[in-house]
Amino acid sequence: MCGIVGYIGTKKASPILINGLLKLEYRGYDSSGISTMENGYISNMKDKGRVKNLYDLPGINDLNGTIGIAHTRWATHGKPCKENSHPHMDNSNTFSVVHNGIIENYVELKQFLLDNGYHFLSETDTEIIPNLIHYYYTKNSENTDRLLNSVYLACKDLKGSYAIEVLCKEEPDYMIVARKDSPLVIGVGEQENYVCSDIPAVLSYTKNFYLLNDGDFAKLSKDDVSFYDNNLSPITKELKNIDWDVSSCEKDGYEDFMLKEIYEQPKSVRETIGSRLKKDEKINFDDIGFSKEVLQKFNRIYLVACGTAMHAGLAVKPLLEKLCHITTIVDIASEFRYREPLIDENTLCIYISQSGETADTIAALKLAKSKGATTIAVSNVIGSSITREADYTIYTHAGPEIAVASTKAYTSQITLLTLLALYFAEVLESVPVDKINNIKEELLLLPEKLTEVLKDSDRIKDFAHKVYTEKDVFFLGRGTDYTVAMEASLKLKEISYIHSEAYASGELKHGPIALIENGITVIGILTDPFLVEKSVSNLQEVITRGAKTLIITNQELNTSSYDEVINIPNTNPLISPILSIIPLQLFSYYISKEKGLDVDKPRNLAKSVTVE
Ligand code: G6P
Repeated sequence: MCGIVGYIGTKKASPILINGLLKLEYRGYDSSGISTMENGYISNMKDKGRVKNLYDLPGINDLNGTIGIAHTRWATHGKPCKENSHPHMDNSNTFSVVHNGIIENYVELKQFLLDNGYHFLSETDTEIIPNLIHYYYTKNSENTDRLLNSVYLACKDLKGSYAIEVLCKEEPDYMIVARKDSPLVIGVGEQENYVCSDIPAVLSYTKNFYLLNDGDFAKLSKDDVSFYDNNLSPITKELKNIDWDVSSCEKDGYEDFMLKEIYEQPKSVRETIGSRLKKDEKINFDDIGFSKEVLQKFNRIYLVACGTAMHAGLAVKPLLEKLCHITTIVDIASEFRYREPLIDENTLCIYISQSGETADTIAALKLAKSKGATTIAVSNVIGSSITREADYTIYTHAGPEIAVASTKAYTSQITLLTLLALYFAEVLESVPVDKINNIKEELLLLPEKLTEVLKDSDRIKDFAHKVYTEKDVFFLGRGTDYTVAMEASLKLKEISYIHSEAYASGELKHGPIALIENGITVIGILTDPFLVEKSVSNLQEVITRGAKTLIITNQELNTSSYDEVINIPNTNPLISPILSIIPLQLFSYYISKEKGLDVDKPRNLAKSVTVE
């Protein structure tokens, strides 16, 4: 959603803050702003639109303060405009605040402040925070730690989610930060400290981080950080070293992050496999270490997630069912959390989240835990919120994913969950060893096969050129190919703004075929030898009605009736989504480029959705 950066040290803060915002722009890009403090005065500059607009603001280069906060916004309350941009200040211009999250009781708090003589300049929920802090600060004049205390009291009044940074011109050597249900970390340097909602923002300055938990507060000076829990009692934290290299957060010569991330998949899948799978050895999940008795206890598995991560869950459901013989249900986190799902201590709930910060997924996990289920988080971000809630965490190790549209995280999630399903099957001894060994062998071949698929990008680019003006595109598949169709359709919507539908091929005749007319684009995915004939017949039905067709296949077919055929390497059908999605990721990418759109930052979307 929104991105936060903060700096306190000996250097000029504004370039560090703006540089950090540029790295975080994928989280939100409706507007941005910065506050720095110097000579007892807080300068506040902000504007609608992209972070680069900040560079053009008159006077931005004159900000010489060595302490500052900054924000890039993804609008929730109030339209994207300068007034609604962060930072927000209180009426007396004493406090400046940036905020990620949503204050659910802001209407009531706003009324309270209005009744106490405050006024408001924006439509945001955030603007109540600096004013509430001011309210407590004026009442709190005796307190020795007045700023920290006032922020604490204000936070006690807030319902909802927040990660905040607070500056106060009366206390120019400190910054206070706090978090609840919204990410925030503190980076530590020499005589300087950083704050950010996402590690890549400051990774070029430090690799040492403190991770804040929900309810934590921190008080930062240039050479110290003190931590407090939700009762304001002092606590200590362990400094963590984050070993992502800076170049993995840069474009590395690619035109866009999305393209770079698509091309990184041979490497990211190899990293995901890591040391969990070695030739002729059993799968290693010592970090989970379930015994046969524990696994036999589970009578149901839930895979819960949002967006692309949910599609990864759909892709592995057949694996878990076929290899482990445990009923597996895939659910959308925002539905699951309000559905009163049937969960007890015999349920295994697996939560998939690239960012590990998706509000609905975290809430769904908390719900399952409260009902006694065993929970596993599958995440790409070390120390992210979800990993701190789950009983067990397994990491995809795909490296930072910056483009809003998820690509390499999806293939890594499927890879990791496939390994997990194989591990369960080995412990349970639920299927013949040959069956397990075949998938293991195929997994080890994936990086090579992914490299091969990526070589066909020019033909996909040509097909994208032929169809980029279309208004509707259909994706069809059966079995795991249908799950790929869903992910491909989401990708196309996200970055090309073309309406698209994914259908199980067999369902076509029950309604959607009415929409097929001359010239419409239909994309078929055919990788399962048991289902291919049926899918071919369904494709004939659309060709007869004039559809233009692109086929992604690893089967030997009579291809003469299709407009374009992309052949991909053969593999076990249970893991074919890892290969068959690649041409379709490229297809969406090239369509978006043909249309001249911003691939990495599609309109209205955010990389990490930390609100409901
Ligand atoms: C957002 C992103 C999607 C992502 C989804 C779930 O909607 O735009 O790309 O799939 O959130 O994110 P997560 O971090 O939980 O995997």
